[in-house]
Amino acid sequence: MEQTFIMIKPDGVQRGLVGEIIGRFEKKGFSLKGLKLLTVDQAFAEKHYADLSSKPFFNGLVEYIISGPVVAMVWEGKNVVTTGRKIIGATNPAESAPGTIRGDFAIDIGRNVIHGSDAVESAKKEIGLWFPDGVANWCGLSQIAVFLNLDE
Ligand code: GTP
Ligand code: MG
Repeated sequence: MEQTFIMIKPDGVQRGLVGEIIGRFEKKGFSLKGLKLLTVDQAFAEKHYADLSSKPFFNGLVEYIISGPVVAMVWEGKNVVTTGRKIIGATNPAESAPGTIRGDFAIDIGRNVIHGSDAVESAKKEIGLWFPDGVANWCGLSQIAVFLNLDE
């Protein structure tokens, strides 16, 4: 099944939008396969946005991404890459439609709340970078036992 990498950027976390954003993907019907809160360093952010390294806004973009914790997620479902981008909205919030995440919650292109992979290939690359150990399989009986506080 198709997967995409979604990251709530530091402004989204700081503004308390994590629940709202996760809710939109859940209510659409996609499945959450991996999730972690972490702060990345400069080298990691430069790797994630390597394709944009020649852009004039690159250094500012890296500073923004490392400025605080982000929520990194893997979401799964039919056409989740393309549909995820639609849920997120256009890169520049000035052009994102109301009803999209950026359209509803952002004003500046340099503080646009959320990242989503732009193609199936880049999704695979980004999931590999952010989740190098893979995403957990939470369906195992041993995990359920842990949730229920059982002994085994
Ligand atoms: P991501 O999901 O974050 O990858 O955004 P995107 O795919 O919609 O856009 P793109 O990959 O082209 O750019 C990555 C990020 O760089 C954007 O989300 C913005 O935060 C930032 N960015 C893109 N273009 C500009 C720009 O012209 N000025 C500034 N300040 N930031 C930009
Ligand atoms: Mg992009």
